[in-house]
Order: sequence, then structure tokens, then C-alpha cells
Amino acid sequence: MSDLTPPAIEREVRRRRTFAIISHPDAGKTTLTEKLLLFSGAIQIAGSVKARKASRHATSDWMEIEKQRGISVASSVMQMEYRDCVINLLDTPGHQDFSEDTYRVLTAVDAALMVIDAANGVEPQTRRLLQVCRARNTPILTFVNKMDREVQEPLALMDEIERELGMEVVPFTWPVGMGKTFHGVMDLRAQQMRVFKPGADRNEDDDEILAGLDNPAYAERFGAPYEQAAGEIELLTDAAPPFDEAAFLAGRQTPMFFGSAVNNFGVREVLDALVDLAPPPDKRVAIQREVLPSEPKFSGVVFKIQANMDPAHRDRIAFLRVASGHFERGMRLKVVRSGKELRPNSVVSFLSQRRELLDEAFAGDIIGIPNHGVLQLGDTLTEGEPLQFTGLPFFAPEMFRSVEVADPLRTKQLRAGLTQLGEEGAIQVFRPLAGSLLLLGAVGQLQFEVVAHRLEHEYGVKARIMPSRFQVARWVTCPPEAGGQKELQRFIDANAHRVAYDAVDAPTVLVEYAPELRAIESNWPQIRFHALREHA
Ligand code: G4P
Repeated sequence: MSDLTPPAIEREVRRRRTFAIISHPDAGKTTLTEKLLLFSGAIQIAGSVKARKASRHATSDWMEIEKQRGISVASSVMQMEYRDCVINLLDTPGHQDFSEDTYRVLTAVDAALMVIDAANGVEPQTRRLLQVCRARNTPILTFVNKMDREVQEPLALMDEIERELGMEVVPFTWPVGMGKTFHGVMDLRAQQMRVFKPGADRNEDDDEILAGLDNPAYAERFGAPYEQAAGEIELLTDAAPPFDEAAFLAGRQTPMFFGSAVNNFGVREVLDALVDLAPPPDKRVAIQREVLPSEPKFSGVVFKIQANMDPAHRDRIAFLRVASGHFERGMRLKVVRSGKELRPNSVVSFLSQRRELLDEAFAGDIIGIPNHGVLQLGDTLTEGEPLQFTGLPFFAPEMFRSVEVADPLRTKQLRAGLTQLGEEGAIQVFRPLAGSLLLLGAVGQLQFEVVAHRLEHEYGVKARIMPSRFQVARWVTCPPEAGGQKELQRFIDANAHRVAYDAVDAPTVLVEYAPELRAIESNWPQIRFHALREHA
């Protein structure tokens, strides 16, 4: 147990901000991340964020995905200090085939920053990610990017965001013009204008700031774009709802900012808003009880597992979000699921994006624990208390393949490889009750390609990945009042030809067509069918 007093832990918790940036690919997430990091003085980072972007552009090529996976170990979590706050910024994979991983990352954050391309408005991937945030009531800040281009009218964008995402939008800044006539943004709270000056490497502190929203000099200097902005601001003052902190914290209202990430313009306002508005870590729900972040004893949950960059070593990093207490290097931890003890000496943090050894961490921080399979997705680590945090989602796969090893002598390696890849969440692995072939389930086609590639290069197994007739999967349970385990077993016996067990031995029913599932559901009214399984 930590020798820090609860008030000392509380102080550390209060200065934590843990958030993810979500966007549709190409909206400017990478660029914005890079600029945010510049404010913390972590200048050298710029290069590595760019490198990641360069590889990401070839997302259809799994070799490139491999490269990206390696690089992103270092850049998927970034910690920085800004205005006496410790900010943990989590990356979410851009490619939609990895969305399951993204959903799990979103369980580890306390807020999200949504980046919208002002020309394209709300795009499909943004919509999907936002649904996940909404389901968890995650507070969301909105950054409308690329105002230096010819884009949609700001009022139209605001309307679209409100309609499409079902949230009230409260502009904190408002643009004056766009594209060639983009003159800057009005800060509606500070009542001042920040004048736009292009240039990526500019230090934003040089910006020209003009006092007032209706300074008489504006009309002369900025012409028609100013007149338009002034009219819009007047309209907003009458019509837009006031900022309501409770509605923001409940994910019902989003503060909106305009800017241009590539020009490092309007970015500081967003970072300041994150510090001022986004909540510090709050209590987390475990099956046994609620856990407060300032409790003296350490607890945390593994929300992501990533194979290391070096395939020869095969060690993996488990990303753990600290839920409570004070983590110190070398402290003894218990993996609640297995009862195993862990004494991680080489725990890494991601300060300023260099992976470095971590000495201490508090609620909201993300720590990386290298391990060889001791840790699984969803694992809770404590100082001994049997706690299991809930809420880590697994989605029913939407595509299936059966898998067979080309050389039967390598069957053991195939099973070992798939077990590890399954634990990492790269793919879901099912053992059908009937037959000996393993089934792979994914939400995106690319996952199969990555798995085949990794099996070959990391486990020396050439796998044959073949079509499967199954199309739909549902986890099955039966509550005690409906017959419980006995009824579930009756269902499993009667459906042995289409039941399989997943990586944690949860029974699943697999069917070829959706109508078939409906028929099964009506024949077995006591059984519950789940498209989403929460780790428990
Ligand atoms: P992502 O991570 O969300 O996928 O987006 P990313 O930052 O990679 O940005 C996508 C493209 O949009 C990049 O151009 C980037 O330079 C550009 N971009 C980002 N912010 C702005 C902005 O404020 N204004 C304008 N005009 N463009 C912006 P690219 O051509 O794909 O790459 P690059 O050659 O510019 O590096």
C-alpha cells in the first residue's frame, strides 16, 4: 500500500485528464495530436507521429499494418504535462476494421475530443465512435478542423452535428471567414479575436489578439466575412443554449471550437478547454463494488494488449488504466482472474512519447506492463482485493473463417498462436463443439489477413484460412429465474452442431442466416442471446 496520504493521492487524481481523439480518417487527428503535444514541449514527437501517419496511408496493405502496429506501440498512448495537469492522450486506430480495439480504448478514457473535417461534416466513422461514447456518457469536445479551406458554412455544420449526433452544440469559438478569407476565430467567452496567420511551425503565442467581439476596426479590416460572423454570433447569442456543465459531463452537450490543425491555429483553446472542462478520473464500477480513484490501494484494468515491436521476443505489452491508488515500480500486484502474482519492474509509461521506465502512476494514467501471456484483456490487477472491473466490450463477430494448419505437425503452434492473438483481441477464436477445426471471428476482413501474417511470422505456422458458412454469432446465457445453467446446458446439447466456445469458454451459438437466429430465439424463450459480451 502507498505511503501517500489520501489527500495527496486526491491531489494527483484531480490534475489528471485522460482522453482520446476520435475522428473519421483524414479529418486531421494525427495533425492535431502532434500540435497538442507541441504545447507540452515534447517537440521531438512530431516526427514519430508523422511516421505513423505515413504508414497508415497504406491501410489496405497488411505489411504496412504490421509496421504501423509496431510503431503505434510507442505512440498509442502519450502522456504530457500542461498547465499543471497530467494529460493522457490515447490514440484510437484509424482503420475501421480495428474498431473493436477502438471501442475498448474508449472504455479507458474520461473524455473524447471529436475532430470534424469542416468540408465533410459528420462522417460514418465519427458517427460510430460517437455512439460508443454516448453509450458510456463520455463528455465530448468538438474541434472543427480545416477552416483554412473552402468548407461548409459554420451554422450548417453546427446544425448537422446537432442533428446527426443528437447532442446540443455550444460554440466556444466562432470563425471569421474560411479558406482564402479565413481571418481568425472569435473567442466567445474571452470576448476577443485571434487573428489567423498560416504556418505550421509558428509558435501560437505570437498570435495577434484583438479585444472585443464587435471592435469597430473589424469591419474595415476583415470586410464581408466579419459582417457575416457578427450576424451569426448575434443569432447564436439569442438562440444557442448556454453551456451547461452537467449536460456536458453527461455527454448531452458538446463545446465546439473552430481552427486549423495544420496551421496550429485554434488548438490551444481546445487544450485549455480540456484542462478546464474535462473531468478528472471518477469512480469505476467493479462487480463487487464501486472503486474511488483516491482510494489508497492500487487497482487497474487491462484494456488493450499489443504484441511488441520485436517479433523475436514475443513479449507483449498490456495497457492498464489505473483506477485507484498509487502505483510504484516494483510493487507486488495480483492478477485477480488467475490469482497469479506479478511484480513488474519494467513497467513503462509513455511520457513525452519516449517509452521510459515508470516510477509512479495514479488513477487515469496508463501504464504498460510487458508480459508473456500472464495478462489478458479485461484483467483486473489489485494489491490483493478480489475485484473485477466491468464494461470492457467484446462484439459478436460479423465474419467467420475456419482455420487449418498446412503442416499437421505444427498444430500445437497454431493453437498457441491463436490463443495469444485471441487474448490480445486481434481476433476472436471459437472452438466448435462438433468437429476439430477452429473458427475465427472478426468484425473486419483485414483482421484475418493480419492474423495469417502474424501466425506465419511470429509463430512459424502457415495457416489455411477458409470460408465458413456461419454469418452470425450470439453469446448465450440463461438467467437463474429462467432455468439457469441447466436450461443453458439443454440448449447447448440440442444445438451441439452450432455451438462453439470462445476464448474464455463462453458458449456461443453460430448460425448461417439472421432468420435462422430468429427461429432459434423463438424456440428457446428462456435463453438470452447477446451481440455484446462484457468482460466479467
Ligand atoms: P487523420 O489522422 O485524421 O487521418 O488525418 P491527418 O492528420 O493525417 O490529416 C489528413 C490530411 O489533412 C493531411 O494531408 C493533413 O495535412 C491535412 N490537414 C490536417 N489539418 C488540416 C488543416 O487544418 N487544414 C488543411 N488544409 N489540411 C489539414 P495529407 O495531404 O494527407 O498529408 P500531408 O501531405 O499534408 O502530410
